[in-house]
Amino acid sequence: MTISVSDRLRRLPGYPLAEIPVIKKRLAEAGVDVIDLGAGDNDTPPPAPVVAEMNAALADPAMSKYGFQQGYAGFRRAAVDFLGRRFGQRFDPSTEILPLIGSKEGLAHLPFAFVNPGDVVILPEPGYQAYTGGALLTGGEPLVYPLRAEHQFLLDLERVPAETLARTRLVYVNYPNNPTAAIAPLEYLEKTVAICRRHGIVLAYDNAYCDLTYDGYRAPSIFEIPGARDVAVEFFSLSKSYSMTGWRIGFAAGSRDLIGALTKIKSYTDTGPFLAVQRAGVVALDRSEEFCTPIRAELQRRRDAGVAALGQAGFAVATPKAAMYLWIPLPAGVPSAEFARHVLETEGVVTLPGSGFGPAGEGYFRIALTVGPERLREAVARVGRGLASFESRGVAARA
Ligand SMILES: Cc1ncc(COP(=O)(O)O)c(C=O)c1O
Repeated sequence: MTISVSDRLRRLPGYPLAEIPVIKKRLAEAGVDVIDLGAGDNDTPPPAPVVAEMNAALADPAMSKYGFQQGYAGFRRAAVDFLGRRFGQRFDPSTEILPLIGSKEGLAHLPFAFVNPGDVVILPEPGYQAYTGGALLTGGEPLVYPLRAEHQFLLDLERVPAETLARTRLVYVNYPNNPTAAIAPLEYLEKTVAICRRHGIVLAYDNAYCDLTYDGYRAPSIFEIPGARDVAVEFFSLSKSYSMTGWRIGFAAGSRDLIGALTKIKSYTDTGPFLAVQRAGVVALDRSEEFCTPIRAELQRRRDAGVAALGQAGFAVATPKAAMYLWIPLPAGVPSAEFARHVLETEGVVTLPGSGFGPAGEGYFRIALTVGPERLREAVARVGRGLASFESRGVAARA
């Protein structure tokens, strides 16, 4: 008798980039100097005072107990203070904040609270895979919304037919955006909140990159838009802002009802983030400006080096105001997955093909600003060489 997997599992697309770590390992073992611009995982260490607090917390046996959904009270307080300082928004720490084991799980769990099988969930594409996972695992019907350069990569609900909006229970909106690095004007957010309110749609606002902004740009919270509390749950992450990706800590903010619903779901699936990590997270959030300023400055240097080097290598790329990615158009007819594999095999540089973020990402590739300016220039020069050899390969094949 064979074991069959669920229809739910079968609906999940295979991870298109699964072979990249395997190729990377083989190249590194063969002595190739591989530069990894794939995952959004910065090479800078977490702030030393956060690490020191983590060490102190580990020595306290109380921190080794179950956190449950309530978690470490200081973390909820620090989240509320952060939201107050940064966005001028007030929240109740015990009912309107929820600690998360990284924001990814919160994003993926949210539809379990609001989506019935057959309900529409609107997802941006290219986009983060947790959205697809959440929609498909709940039996929702994903409506893939293609983000296009000519529309500033904005997910515009006004372009979705009214009958579809009537069946929609949840939309994922992510600005500053991964992978396009687009940002959202306030008028856009106002329009989005208004449509969600009109149709009773939960607005999952993914603000994982709110601290990574450049040239004086300040990323807003969705709660700066009047009326957003009726519909929005906003997701924050400590991963990117403090180089704490592996610590798995973030939080959600929203009205008591919306946060309460997500809390109930999570009380059946996990027991909250490690208390010691929450305690260390307090130090990060309380000193966010101090810790984020140097990370921002370094990423801005990397962005400038990357954009300039890409220009020299023949790529036309916009200079993003936020996030930690460059989303680079490929010359017409160059398939992104084949190109990324070629650049890795021949030049030892890991990039992500646009198609890895869904078919609407085709025609682009993404690099993450994970290494310093010098190394980035070296990587981009190699990518440029990779494009030339890829294109001449095509010419040779046609000859
Ligand atoms: C758009 C977006 N949202 C959320 C996350 C999740 O971050 P974490 O689960 O580490 O908080 C990421 C991570 O890459 C991301 O790119």
